[in-house]
Amino acid sequence: MTLLIKDEYPEKLFREDGKRLDGRDLKELRPIKLEVGILNNADGSAYLEWGNNKIFAAVYGPREVHPHHLAKPDKGILRVFYRMATFSVFERKRPAPGRREKEISMIITDCLEPVLFLELYPGTSFEVFIDVLDADGGTRCASTTVAALALADAGIPMKSLVTSVAVGKIDGKIVVDLSGVEDKAGEADLPCAITWFNEEISLLQFDGDMDLNELDTFLKLAKDALKEIYEMQLNALKSKYITIQEKYNGGQVKQ
Ligand code: CDP
Repeated sequence: MTLLIKDEYPEKLFREDGKRLDGRDLKELRPIKLEVGILNNADGSAYLEWGNNKIFAAVYGPREVHPHHLAKPDKGILRVFYRMATFSVFERKRPAPGRREKEISMIITDCLEPVLFLELYPGTSFEVFIDVLDADGGTRCASTTVAALALADAGIPMKSLVTSVAVGKIDGKIVVDLSGVEDKAGEADLPCAITWFNEEISLLQFDGDMDLNELDTFLKLAKDALKEIYEMQLNALKSKYITIQEKYNGGQVKQ
C-alpha cells in the first residue's frame, strides 16, 4: 500500500538512479489494463487497472429518468455516480458519498457530456456508475477514461472517446501520471481530459504550486500521455469485437 499518512511522506520522490520511487521515468505511465463488456447486467461496462487503482464503470441508458422531475423535455441527461468503496483507501472511507465524490461525479459529467448527442434523447437519462475498489492517486482521471469506454461499450452514439490523465510536479520535476504518494507529497497536480473529436481539453484542474509559464510544458506532456492511453482504449474496444468475431466465426460457433 503506497498511501501514507502525512508524517510518513518520503523526503525524496526520486531514487538515487534518477527514477521515481516506483521505478518510472518522468514521462512514464503506470501500467494500464482495460477491459470492456465485463458486467452482464449493465447496458455497457468496463474495468480498469491503472497502477494500483482498480475501477469498474457500468452504464445504463437511454432510459426513464428517476426521479421524474429531473427529466428535461428537450434533451437527455447524463448522470455520473463516482463512489469509492469503503475499503478502497488506507483509512476507512465512510460509505455515504461525501463532498469529494459529488465533486468528482460532477467533473466527470462535464468531461463526458460534450461527446454525447443528448439532444437526440429528450426525457431520458444515461447513467454511469463508477466504483473505485482500490485507490492510489488519479482516480478521477482513471474513472473518466474507463467511463468513456463503458459508454462506448453500451453502443451509445458518441462523437469520440474521452481520455484523462494527470501531470504534475514532484521534487521540482514535471512528471506524468502521479501515483498516490506523488500526488500527496509533490508540489503540483494537474488533472486534464481531452475530447478527441475536437481535440479540446474538457477538464483542467490545478492543485498545488507551479509557475504558469510551465503550463505549455505540462500540456505538451499531457497530450503525449493522453494519446498513449487513447490507443489502449481503442485496443480494449477492438479486442472485445475480435473475441466475438472469433467465437461466431462465419455463423459457426466455435467451442
Ligand atoms: O484520486 P484523485 O487523485 O483523482 O483525487 P484526490 O482527491 O487528489 O485523491 C488522491 C488520492 O488520495 C486518491 O486517489 C486516494 O488514493 C487518496 N484518498 C484517500 O486516501 N482517502 C480519501 N478519502 C480520498 C482520497
